[in-house]
Amino acid sequence: MNKKFYIETYGCQMNVADSELVANILRNKEFSLTDDHKQADLVLINTCAVRDKAEQRIIGRLGYFKSIKRKNPNLKVGVLGCMAQRMKHQLADNQDVVDFVMGPDTYKRLPEILERVNEGSREVDVVLSKKETYDDLKPFRYNQNKISGFVSISRGCDNMCTFCIVPFTRGRERSRNPESILSEVVDLRNDGYKELTLLGQNVDKYNWNKGEIKFGKLLEMVAKEVPDMRVRFATSYPQDMTDEVLYAIRDYDNVCKYIHLPVQSGSTRMLGIMRRGYTREWYLNRIEAINRIIPNCAISTDIIAGFCGETEEDHLQTLDLMRIVKYDYAYMFKYSVRPNTYAAKRLPDDVPEDDKSRRLSEIIELQNKLSEESNKRDLNKVFDVLVEGTSKRDKNQLYGRNSQNKVVVFNGDKSLIGSLVDVKVEAHTQATLLGKLITKN
Ligand code: 5AD
Ligand code: SF4
Repeated sequence: MNKKFYIETYGCQMNVADSELVANILRNKEFSLTDDHKQADLVLINTCAVRDKAEQRIIGRLGYFKSIKRKNPNLKVGVLGCMAQRMKHQLADNQDVVDFVMGPDTYKRLPEILERVNEGSREVDVVLSKKETYDDLKPFRYNQNKISGFVSISRGCDNMCTFCIVPFTRGRERSRNPESILSEVVDLRNDGYKELTLLGQNVDKYNWNKGEIKFGKLLEMVAKEVPDMRVRFATSYPQDMTDEVLYAIRDYDNVCKYIHLPVQSGSTRMLGIMRRGYTREWYLNRIEAINRIIPNCAISTDIIAGFCGETEEDHLQTLDLMRIVKYDYAYMFKYSVRPNTYAAKRLPDDVPEDDKSRRLSEIIELQNKLSEESNKRDLNKVFDVLVEGTSKRDKNQLYGRNSQNKVVVFNGDKSLIGSLVDVKVEAHTQATLLGKLITKN
């Protein structure tokens, strides 16, 4: 009998891509995917460990699946991903619900693990690899519309920022064979996809064959291979983002004019404590280079409020840097201690909770204003928009993204989904551009 699996994914795009690999492994083992966990024989939760909040949500979900399991004792539950890697046996000890725990580098062993689990064993496989890039696995792309797909180009992170759990959960940096990247890109095009996103924890450190192919070159190779597809990438790291990458973005029309460049803090002192390896001035110099080389490029960032030792002056420097850069968008977080990181072991989490919350609110408030101003600057501009679907609020409206990754909503017919259209911006909200379809003759 055909067994069914259900998979829930938390965290970043890399986790989404990993779930697609896992889904493919299971389909090859004659499982079929269901989006209703009540129908499932196997439930997988692909987890994130980046902040305590993310983990608490997952703990809550495990509690829920415990109650489901009481009704269906044959159900098997596996925890995958970063939290699995971080907590290892601690999760498996949760005997009422967790049958097995697997870290991000072990998914190829899933069939063996399942066999042992079915024999009644409780399994924990969290060996990190220096080599695994899953080159020979094709993702089963169940997550997204058939318009935009992820292609992972590297895994792991060697940066060791003092606040971050990722180097511990995803291991050492390694780059994927460019041939296998290009072949996956071509598969996407052949399957009718219109856009792809190259993924890595730090794409700028992509390095094949001791420097023979770095990220700028790879981006160019991908852009040339599929000139009719849009190419995006994430995430860039300020210290490693070279001008070569910026020229590749500028020179290829199909490479989207959008860079996510996490700053974390606007204070050089804090960047030192975070061990980011760059200063405020270095970062601003990279922003200046982006604006000079790619004048129509949108820029977004990540910011952490209230990291260890952050003073009011450091916080003001973050606000000041945000005003200088004029970010189009930002992801903003309160610092959350991650066990075993350098900060957890060595740096006191000494910013009072109230101050953390207030600083985060000030950062969010400022960014809301900056996002609104950024949208205002787009009024009357005409953008190429890749249509992704119908708007949830109004079925007669379509939505899509422009090259700068902004969501654009406009009236149009469903038949346009999946195509590139010209839209003129006529109004905006803080989060969205509202436009009018320009019909081509
Ligand atoms: N606390 C809060 N935010 C964090 N991030 C990473 N680690 C932490 C932490 N311990 C944020 C960073 C990173 C994004 C993915 O998550 O801003 O860029
Ligand atoms: Fe979460 Fe980071 Fe792991 Fe992605 S890499 S799932 S953001 S902890």
